[in-house]
Amino acid sequence: MTDVAAKDSLTVTDNRTGQQYDIAITDNTIAAKDLGQIRLNDDEPGLATYDPGFVNTASCRSSVTYIDGDKGILEYRGYPIEQLAEKSSFLEVAYLLVNGELPTKEQYDAWVHEITYHTFVHENVKTFMQGFRYDAHPMGMLMASVGALSTFYPDARNISDADNRHMQIVRMIAKMPTLGAWSFRHAQGKPYVYPDNDLGYTANFLSMLFKMSESKFEADERLVKALDVLFILHADHEQNCSTNAVRSVGSSQVDPYSAVAAGVGALYGPLHGGANEAVLRMLKRIGSKENIPAFIDGVKDGNERLMGFGHRVYKNYDPRAKIIKKSAEDVFEVTGTNPLLDIALELEKIALEDEYFVKRKLYPNVDFYSGLIYEAFQFPPEMFTVLFAIGRTPGWLAQWAELVQDKDQKIARPKQIYTGDRELTFTAASERWT
Ligand code: CMC
Repeated sequence: MTDVAAKDSLTVTDNRTGQQYDIAITDNTIAAKDLGQIRLNDDEPGLATYDPGFVNTASCRSSVTYIDGDKGILEYRGYPIEQLAEKSSFLEVAYLLVNGELPTKEQYDAWVHEITYHTFVHENVKTFMQGFRYDAHPMGMLMASVGALSTFYPDARNISDADNRHMQIVRMIAKMPTLGAWSFRHAQGKPYVYPDNDLGYTANFLSMLFKMSESKFEADERLVKALDVLFILHADHEQNCSTNAVRSVGSSQVDPYSAVAAGVGALYGPLHGGANEAVLRMLKRIGSKENIPAFIDGVKDGNERLMGFGHRVYKNYDPRAKIIKKSAEDVFEVTGTNPLLDIALELEKIALEDEYFVKRKLYPNVDFYSGLIYEAFQFPPEMFTVLFAIGRTPGWLAQWAELVQDKDQKIARPKQIYTGDRELTFTAASERWT
């Protein structure tokens, strides 16, 4: 047995050997490496944990985003999401996430200037994007083109230099809307639109998406604001699948373009970025309010899920869902109501009063209304995750910058429990196939 059991410790008895161990508890966690001292004998490897999907394993210390799922709290650098969505802008939130504190007026102006100045991409980026198949999924195009930026900025591999990191962070936040908009235009067979640097970040994005022959594209301010809020709501969500991918790839000390491309890849998957598309499909399938009770019965019988409801972390409500509902109202004021909204509102009302959903703490999540908003903007469903990726970029980069400066971090390299054969004798193909 190790020395005195301090109060902040865990005393474990290994019943295989009868031996006791005291393991320090810090921040309500134990260090997995401390379990390594628990072993049957010197020849055996030490005890490890088995945790597919990191369901109960902290992979880092982070000061970027705080979530309390039971209380429905989401804060970026300590600021509640509700306040940021109401009073801030996406670029200010991006500054906050990346730099850890709110900007002064001079810092903000310089930040906006830098980002605006870097919205253009090398002409060769345009050329290779044009080489994609006519029906290429915009998320695949985005992933490939973000990764390809590393070849345009080879100095980006110098990740230990703070100025260099800053440069790449600015570039990536600036260029994501350009790459995202061009991926959209490509699938539509429309010419790519260059950035208009007279416009703000989100207004410029809308211009690159929708401008045709007019000399200047002027989006309705209410739509610009709604999309800006959506970007804010998606800007970070602590150690989710794509952020974990960015950190995992970044832990090899590769350049940030390659790490963020991995994040885009993770977000591409339907379990992560694709739920709002599923909500839209579900609402279309329900078709009218009269069909809701039968649909709910099907959900309760376990035949299907009410998409846009429930969350791994938020068990009382998803704070982003409330804000999004308000944005949806603002957007529909401009675009006219989406008939699916009535179905969504009725569905939400019925579900929130139903014992099945109440008992399981199932509430609308961020995706319940976001798909409806995106559809009102006339985005095809394949674009939904691209919008998510643009919003999430400052979060990925803030987490990446934190990772590369964190002395505790090591190259990501989980253990495994080997379940295959051992020590077989190999027979050459020439002998096996005779
Ligand atoms: N509809 C009906 N029943 C549900 C739902 C739902 N949407 N979500 C969970 N349940 C039930 C589930 O059947 C289980 O019931 P029981 O205890 O009788 O077996 C119970 O609630 C607990 O479910 P779980 O699957 O253990 O919960 P989880 O934390 O593993 O899953 C979730 C979380 C988000 C994957 C799940 O709620 C779900 O599939 N929701 C629908 C898809 C969706 O909207 N996803 C977007 C998530 S938000 C995006 C983001 O933050 O990035």
